[in-house]
Amino acid sequence: MSTDALPVGFDAARVRRRPTLKRLFDTDSIDTSHETFSRRRDRRKPRGRLRPDELMPDRDGAPPVPEIAWLQERGYLDGIEGELKSGKEATVYLGRTRVGLAAVKVFRDLAVRSFKNDGRYRAGRFIGDARVERAIANRSATGRRAQALLWAAHEYAMLWRLRAAGVNVPEPLVGPDTSDIAQAGEVVLMRFVGDEAGPAPRLADVRLPPDEARRAFDDAVHALTAMWRVGVVHADYSTYNLLWWRGSVVVIDLPQAVDADHREARELLKRDAASLCATFRQHGIEAAPDEVLRVVVAG
Ligand SMILES: Nc1ncnc2c1ncn2[C@@H]1O[C@H](COP(=O)(O)OP(=O)(O)OP(=O)(O)O)[C@@H](O)[C@H]1O
Ligand SMILES: [Mg+2]
Repeated sequence: MSTDALPVGFDAARVRRRPTLKRLFDTDSIDTSHETFSRRRDRRKPRGRLRPDELMPDRDGAPPVPEIAWLQERGYLDGIEGELKSGKEATVYLGRTRVGLAAVKVFRDLAVRSFKNDGRYRAGRFIGDARVERAIANRSATGRRAQALLWAAHEYAMLWRLRAAGVNVPEPLVGPDTSDIAQAGEVVLMRFVGDEAGPAPRLADVRLPPDEARRAFDDAVHALTAMWRVGVVHADYSTYNLLWWRGSVVVIDLPQAVDADHREARELLKRDAASLCATFRQHGIEAAPDEVLRVVVAG
């Protein structure tokens, strides 16, 4: 990774002095402080905000997140090392697996915030159970849990599908067998993008020299095109959901992705092109959304 591609405020010299895995967890990029959690302890604790050590089953008690226990029992996961990021809808932890480091995305209790204005993405998606459908629409506890399970299963499906199509997304580490994906519940386990020195930065967080910015933009348009070609619209496509790793763009955050036959697919694709262009302006790229859309649709 070139120094130019480091996130703003990332201390490259310090990271270089900290090459070991153990030290990874002391870097600024991983939140190990957790003061905010203890203040919340008396309130109803959103599930995704559990401390990393609380995620692993304790010797005598019931596991706090049964899915994590299941992943461990089945040999998918060896341990959780720390919290990587707490996003709007999920908390992402750093995990250890037999195949290397993993990102462990736990869809948090969706009572915390409204979830990606999800009605729009849900529209036309088959749930197959009117009671579950109603519970989700009403945002009852059951509905929120069902919704979290659906988002996780959908993210797995998209990761498998896009990887098979050659799109650069993190490798899913559970599946493609759907019964294993169902057992993993609201936990998406995928390969960690990054290395011992820290996670790959988002394109929103790096400063790039002009030629690299152009390559990143072209790569991002190429990925949008490849997705459209296999009938997928990301539906939240911007530099906030694109990682920059070793000179390539890695597309993340797929629970809201829709099929091309979704009734709003075209509209969402248009919005993706617009937010891609808008967020790339910080890198000095001036591109017209209509032109991007034309390129994507032409394949
Ligand atoms: N496979 C991965 N490797 C490294 N980092 C990852 C990976 N997956 C997610 N992350 C980090 O975790 C953050 C949150 O992940 P993601 O965007 O999938 O969830 P989110 O809940 O939608 O978050 P947000 O609200 O910030 O968009 C990402 O911005 C990225 O920094
Ligand atoms: Mg995101």
